[in-house]
Amino acid sequence: MTTVSMTVNGRQVSADVEDRTLLVDYLRNAISLTGTHVGCDTSQCGACVVHVDGRAVKSCTMLAVQAAGSSVTTIEGLATGDELHPVQAAFREHHGLQCGFCTPGMIMTAVDMIRRHGGQLDEATVRHELEGNICRCTGYHNIVKAILDAAAKMQMPAAAE
Ligand code: FES
Ligand code: FES
Repeated sequence: MTTVSMTVNGRQVSADVEDRTLLVDYLRNAISLTGTHVGCDTSQCGACVVHVDGRAVKSCTMLAVQAAGSSVTTIEGLATGDELHPVQAAFREHHGLQCGFCTPGMIMTAVDMIRRHGGQLDEATVRHELEGNICRCTGYHNIVKAILDAAAKMQMPAAAE
């Protein structure tokens, strides 16, 4: 067992886990943040996407020990008090979810996408960038609409990488 400490949603956390523990299992089981979902465990579905030091990462592809000392944001960390993040609000407004299983990963991917592309984001780019996120319910149309609407409303400049 190793003591793994990191900042999650602005809070310092620490837990003793096996070295082989995946980041997604650390989040869900060690610190009880179950908003991050596990759809496949093999890097296919994108349900487990979180941000590590500001970048979208499939948390089933990373060991918790690799994230030690990092700043992690999960779906639970997006809203400000009772106010939804603009991407969450856009998913609700445009009915970008049905069962909701893929939604945490979709939204975390979308937030990173908007951060990188800002107002330059177009439909083709959104569809291309969603390749790693599988939704079995919605047909994607309303997800794409929600992301484009959120990007327009947020009016962010593209991030310098
Ligand atoms: Fe990580 Fe499916 S659970 S990509
Ligand atoms: Fe059901 Fe996407 S809303 S999998």
